[in-house]
Amino acid sequence: MNGKFPQHFLWGGAVAANQVEGAYQADGKGLSTSDLQPQGIFGAITPRMPGDSGIKDVAIDFYHRYPEDIALFAEMGFKCLRTSIAWTRIFPQGDEETPNEAGLAFYDRLFDEMAKYGIQPLITLSHYEMPYGLVKNYGGWGDRRTIAFFERYARTVFERYKHKVKHWLTFNEINMSLHAPFTGVGLPPESDRSAIYQAIHHQLVASAKAVKACHEIVPEGKIGNMLLGGILYPLSCRPEDLLETQRQNRDWLFFGDVQARGYYPAYMQRFFRENGIQVEITNEDRQTLRETIDFISFSYYMSGCVTADPEQYETARGNILDMVPNPHLASSEWGWQIDPIGLRYLLNVLYDRYQKPLFIVENGLGAKDRVEADGSINDDYRINYLNDHLVQVAEAIDDGVEVMGYTSWGPIDLVSASKAEMSKRYGFIHVDRDDAGNGSLERRRKKSFYWYRDVIHSNGASL
Ligand code: BG6
Repeated sequence: MNGKFPQHFLWGGAVAANQVEGAYQADGKGLSTSDLQPQGIFGAITPRMPGDSGIKDVAIDFYHRYPEDIALFAEMGFKCLRTSIAWTRIFPQGDEETPNEAGLAFYDRLFDEMAKYGIQPLITLSHYEMPYGLVKNYGGWGDRRTIAFFERYARTVFERYKHKVKHWLTFNEINMSLHAPFTGVGLPPESDRSAIYQAIHHQLVASAKAVKACHEIVPEGKIGNMLLGGILYPLSCRPEDLLETQRQNRDWLFFGDVQARGYYPAYMQRFFRENGIQVEITNEDRQTLRETIDFISFSYYMSGCVTADPEQYETARGNILDMVPNPHLASSEWGWQIDPIGLRYLLNVLYDRYQKPLFIVENGLGAKDRVEADGSINDDYRINYLNDHLVQVAEAIDDGVEVMGYTSWGPIDLVSASKAEMSKRYGFIHVDRDDAGNGSLERRRKKSFYWYRDVIHSNGASL
């Protein structure tokens, strides 16, 4: 494959603070919602008692080992690394007047290390975590005051890193709050839909405020949203299936519609009315929402199918969503259906809808790896998955879609979000740690490491 990827395409990888850093109480960090879910998004919400431990407390110890990891990313030729800032390192409880200097200094060191190799940071302000103090004392995003706390945090990090970070994202997979309210908006899992949509509304307003602040403070920077790109197909061509599919795709496209267009789409009025959902939206909120994002970013792992008669089918669970399996597709070891063409389709859907540049900020295969006696790890399944998807990205670029970059998920093995597993590995770099937390944390290059290095060096020509 030749010449499809633009010259300054941002090749790289993506991680998140709570899945790699560890050091969960170091240098003044406060507890986050992620710290209260040691078994992951699907696990229980547990108060942290002295002596408790969880796999994320150490994770892969990126907090201390980042120089070695950045050097390995540089060896693959990364142009970009997506990670998040842990809000609780900067504002430990969330409502402090002044930030925690030790937390700010950590990200200075991290960004400086990346700059040594010319790796551009792409920074998510909130990736599946918020200060637990805001949940306990204010009710999380259910309370309007959280908007101002988030804005203070966003302005603080824009000011601090404006010369180092030019690409920002607001909330990771903002649409998943509908399915995991504690992780997304700090609400109890049993919250009703009015409460969840009210909290989501506050988060959308906060996102727009962060966009405005970024435009003011980092005028040459770019800020995007981040969607879980769970594209759905009708299971059949029955019109009822088609309409239900449109409705379910709107469940997640709604977030992009607000963030990219600056107002609530008309179809939400009927949705709210028919479902008895009340959301308080002030005139000031409407004004704030008009500050729109510069680009759309999204994760893509799988597609799914929709039927108007779901009770007749068994559903399969992705990390967040339940979907009816597609009979034409194979699945990963975790039951996620593998659909490279779906990525080309999704890129075209999003570009047709928004006409804004797109950034694929997560894509990858979670799989069990075997370390051979000679120490090698021959992860051809991962190479095939990624190669097939990137071929479809090239096709979409050829279709005319503007794609800024591609950061594969978990370029180094990390703790999985849904069930806090180490054994579900995404990396080009193996980390010696198991689900029980045993292991030396030693890093080791897999076969895919050399494959991805060649892809980047050839700007996609080797695919
Ligand atoms: C995305 C998240 O939903 O999927 C990541 O943004 C997550 O944080 C990734 O790790 C893969 O999911 P999992 O459960 O396999 O880690």
